[in-house]
Amino acid sequence: MRLLLCVTGGIAAYKACELCSLAVKAGHEVQVLMTRRAQDFVGPLTFAGLTGRPVLTDQAEAAMDHIHAAKWAEVACVAPATANALGKLALGLADDLLTTTLLALPASRPVILGPAMNTEMWAQPVVQRNLRWLQELGRFTVVPPTSKRLACGDVGPGALADPADLLAACEAALRG
Ligand SMILES: Cc1cc2nc3c(=O)[nH]c(=O)nc-3n(C[C@H](O)[C@H](O)[C@H](O)COP(=O)(O)O)c2cc1C
Repeated sequence: MRLLLCVTGGIAAYKACELCSLAVKAGHEVQVLMTRRAQDFVGPLTFAGLTGRPVLTDQAEAAMDHIHAAKWAEVACVAPATANALGKLALGLADDLLTTTLLALPASRPVILGPAMNTEMWAQPVVQRNLRWLQELGRFTVVPPTSKRLACGDVGPGALADPADLLAACEAALRG
């Protein structure tokens, strides 16, 4: 599988390293794309080391990176997916490399979303509406967060799904 792993700026960004490592060990080709905010949580060098490929970022975007990455990917996975990224995807915005690349992704290519956020953020009607809108479009699969004690101290849903479950969802989406 050619997997485009998109990492956004949530505290669970470190768990995307495990997802990346699992995917590489399973024999998949992985290209990582990080938002600017994601890079405050984990360094691109970690993903570059795990994948053997330079990470795509807004700062280092070269020429038509968004088009090339979109043509290359068989499956895209946004994990963790912030409330911000989900909102932008739901509205079809394209103001950074992540959203531009996902808009350029051919319609037949599945996108797996692994939301992760504070419990109150997760419960917001606007966040739930954005997720519903995305799922209604047919190409987005949401792997829901799990419920546990979160980094902020709250207890409830919001923790990123298990990386193994996210990888399984990507593999299943490719099989159709
Ligand atoms: C310490 C810290 C942790 C954060 N964790 C989350 C999170 O888990 N989920 C989330 O949706 N936003 C989280 N945010 C807010 C996002 O970083 C913020 O919405 C940012 O604009 C997201 O940018 P991006 O979606 O382009 O990566 C956090 C912010 C900080 C400062």
